[in-house]
Amino acid sequence: LKASSQPMPLSHNILPRVLSFYHHWKKIYEEWLNAGATFLVWFGPTARITVSDPDLIREIFTLKSEFYEKNESHPLVRQLEGDGLLSLKGEKWAHHRKIITPTFHMENLKLLLPVMGKSVVEMLDKWSAMSASGEVEIEVSDWFQTLTEDVITRTAFGSSYEDGKAIFRLQAKQMVIAAEAFQKVLIPGYRFLPTKTNVSSWKLDKQIKKSLIKLIDRRKENLCSEMSDGCPKDLLELMTRARAKETNQIRSDSPSSPSSAITVNDIVEECKSFFFAGKQTTSNLLTWTTVLLAMHPQWQDLAREEVLSVCGARDIPTRDDVAKLKGLSMILNESLRLYPPAIATIRRAKADVELGEYKVPRGTELLIPILAVHHDPGLWGHDATEFNPARFSEGVAHAAKHPMAFIPFGLGARRCIGQNLAILQAKLTMAIILQRFSFQLAPSYKHAPTVLMLLYPQYGAPITFRCLSSQ
Ligand code: HEM
Repeated sequence: LKASSQPMPLSHNILPRVLSFYHHWKKIYEEWLNAGATFLVWFGPTARITVSDPDLIREIFTLKSEFYEKNESHPLVRQLEGDGLLSLKGEKWAHHRKIITPTFHMENLKLLLPVMGKSVVEMLDKWSAMSASGEVEIEVSDWFQTLTEDVITRTAFGSSYEDGKAIFRLQAKQMVIAAEAFQKVLIPGYRFLPTKTNVSSWKLDKQIKKSLIKLIDRRKENLCSEMSDGCPKDLLELMTRARAKETNQIRSDSPSSPSSAITVNDIVEECKSFFFAGKQTTSNLLTWTTVLLAMHPQWQDLAREEVLSVCGARDIPTRDDVAKLKGLSMILNESLRLYPPAIATIRRAKADVELGEYKVPRGTELLIPILAVHHDPGLWGHDATEFNPARFSEGVAHAAKHPMAFIPFGLGARRCIGQNLAILQAKLTMAIILQRFSFQLAPSYKHAPTVLMLLYPQYGAPITFRCLSSQ
């Protein structure tokens, strides 16, 4: 995408702007604006139906989900996301999901709060030092990416933090290479050619796998002693525990058959998936929330009052504190509604199926435009494009005219497994920021939501921070 010379005014009606980037899909995306529309377009040889009616969305994700499967990711994306939950299908996916799900239960994740908090405090100590003279302008999206990378590393690898960090650095490099290669993906068979970029990416892939296997093998040796002191320290341990519980023995050899226990290879692929799925999504949520609170100081003040009354002077909120931050939850939900990091998702019909009054032939793709559903005035009212966290005051199910109108993490069996982790991290980070700083948009801020896989601010998000303790 080329940078646009015309940033948007500070409005949350982002659809025309975001969609106008898809020149070659313009017609498709113009239809998105026609909220509630269900329509078909030919996408190359594939028929693709865009479905934005929440009743039909419910059918696809829940009531008739057995008729649909995820579509194939682009091969380059697949290489990055790994053969983990994001891309697996059928029995193998169900088996992995069952094993990994407890890893992401809120009760488990809350045990990781102190380590997450440590990363946030380290980042904010740097901001404090930078703002010693009063205020400082910070490009938050870069910092939040580093933060989420750090948190995912600590959350995934805990005591093996340094090794984990080295592994995720390799993956970050691989992502940069893939982003460059993306421009050439239209060349048939490009990904198989031994070009300089492909060779570097293959080498990185080998290195990542080798390092992860070494790390898991080390954990295997320590598993008994780690299990003896009760409290799991990181996701890797939680996964190896789940695996050990199932098999009582870790195999690092063959790939798993659907009915067998999760293998070391599988854990490697899942670690890759978590990094890919969790880093930029969560940092985007943090970026947009900070931008929104900078644009709406009355909500920033309310959120700060809540944080100060719940957490007092505690450096890092406790798990009870986090549960009590209801206003902050409403703000995060409103941020996810207006600026959902994942703007759409796609399913494919596995068989001929009836969808509402339509007959959908096998092989048809169905695109669910999360962004458009979240901005539909028919579902959200006349203020659909305004920032109004109060709409979530009675809970998510009552925020809109339809319970399926809020889907930032997808729906049904394949909904985001990292949702709790993302929300916990975002709540913790925003709470500590609000405790320590007041902030507003920097003069150089230009509002320009843009899509490149995820929804992000095209010109970054420069924000001016003032340290509250120095006032
Ligand atoms: C799936 C969004 C954070 C891991 C999904 C899906 C969405 C989503 C929309 C469903 C995709 C579909 O149905 O096709 C988000 C957003 C996040 C976030 C908005 C942050 C604000 C995370 C984090 C992790 C994660 C932190 C892990 C550490 C995954 C995985 C899946 C997934 C593994 C695939 C689940 C499955 O198919 O079983 N995410 N995600 N996500 N997400 Fe997230």
